[in-house]
Amino acid sequence: MNLAAIVLAAGQGTRMRSARAKVLHELGGEPIIARAVRTITSLGAGPVIVVVGHRAREVEAALSARYGRDQLVFALQEPQRGTGDAARAALAALPADFNGNVLIAYGDMPLVSEKTLDRFLAAHRESGAKLSFISIKLADPKAYGRVVRDEKGGVSRIVEHRDASESDRAIDEINTGFYLVDAAFLRVALDELQPNNAQNEYYLTDLVAIARAHGLGIAAWIANDRAEFAGINSRMELAEMEATIRESTCRKLMEAGVTLIDPASAFISEEAEIAPDCTIGPNVQILGRTKIASGVTIEGTAWLKNVTIGRGTLLKLGVRAEDAEIGDECEIGPFANLRAGTYLEGRNRIGNFVETKKAHIGRGTKASHLSYLGDATIGADTNVGCGVITVNYDGYEKHHTEIGDRCMVGCDTQLIAPVKVGSDVYVASGTTIMREVADGTLVMSHHPQREKPGWMATWRERHGDSPDGNGKRERE
Ligand code: UD1
Ligand code: CA
Repeated sequence: MNLAAIVLAAGQGTRMRSARAKVLHELGGEPIIARAVRTITSLGAGPVIVVVGHRAREVEAALSARYGRDQLVFALQEPQRGTGDAARAALAALPADFNGNVLIAYGDMPLVSEKTLDRFLAAHRESGAKLSFISIKLADPKAYGRVVRDEKGGVSRIVEHRDASESDRAIDEINTGFYLVDAAFLRVALDELQPNNAQNEYYLTDLVAIARAHGLGIAAWIANDRAEFAGINSRMELAEMEATIRESTCRKLMEAGVTLIDPASAFISEEAEIAPDCTIGPNVQILGRTKIASGVTIEGTAWLKNVTIGRGTLLKLGVRAEDAEIGDECEIGPFANLRAGTYLEGRNRIGNFVETKKAHIGRGTKASHLSYLGDATIGADTNVGCGVITVNYDGYEKHHTEIGDRCMVGCDTQLIAPVKVGSDVYVASGTTIMREVADGTLVMSHHPQREKPGWMATWRERHGDSPDGNGKRERE
């Protein structure tokens, strides 16, 4: 293969105005640098050297969490004196006997595709040039480096926006920041860089003029898909790119048969899988590795992260769920909170203001209103009444509640865990369950009801009111 890669990620990203390294800002749910590096590792280059500097440890940690030591090598650039200086820092990590091509890329350009880089590589090999780079033509060249060509159309140099003359700035061909360089030439050329520019930095882009001075072949490969080469330098550009990614995710889903009532308010991660014939309402965030089977309807206003949803399930307005599995033909919400470890077997009804956590709930079981079911295993076809609460926390530890099949758990029941309730149990409303209940039992912990007829009128009179309760109100 004989291809190595260098990814530059040491810069501060001043234009972001952030304490965080620019490349650690999130795009489509992951750090910018993670995306950029993913494309490059997929090319099969080795070694892949990532240059870190500003907030080096954090950038390294974010990448190490995703890539093994065998996939990435880190090089430190301290202080950061420009992109050419960064490439120089990477050379130390390139084996001295390496004599192939080096792909150099910037860590703030996360949209470029593997296919495009493959084609660039093929073009470079075919051209026989010692240095190739990707350029694009832009109607608005913004602050990008301009590609200056001679009368014959040959590339002579790249000039940075800040250093460009009025006439240079009129050039519509810009440098994208992807280079393929012969390793031997790279070692020589990086040594020749001088910081003679507006920023007093070592510019990687000066490699072009150096190659020209050496009389070497330079190839500028003009790419057609401009959108792939957008860089992120400001929060505006970050938001624009987020929107681009989001739009393309929504478009792919709609093309594949998913109805999005309002794509503009659907935030769906690229990793999410949504089957055809699902209908997704407005204002939803479907994040992480969420998997939704066909025929699911999400009314709207939902926040779902790493959730699996079975066929035909209905999520009514306002469901929040994370690390949860929801079976087929369930009805969830409105306003339900399914926390981590929730597992609904199917045909479940989890209604308004019900919170579940580490709860395995059997097929057909319902909890329709106002409940907390945490650290619980509940069987099939059980009805959990309004206001039932698993009392799982003693101030130090969490305890488990078990309820069997076909139970009627009356309203306002508290289950003091650890506790076990068998199958076919009838729990009268208002019961506090403190010890095991056997199968088929009726359980209650009622205080007998006492009555004092006529007590209300006496009470009112004691407070200076009339017996019907109207006197005091009139006075006020
Ligand atoms: C760079 C190019 C410009 C090109 C544009 C494309 C140079 C001098 N200019 O400009 O021609 O049009 O990209 O997007 O290369 N970095 C370091 N160490 C440093 C400085 C930067 O590692 O000392 C890294 C940054 O983290 C970033 C990348 O290099 O990922 C590019 O740096 P940036 O400052 O964004 O360059 P641009 O001004 O965008
Ligand atoms: Ca940039």
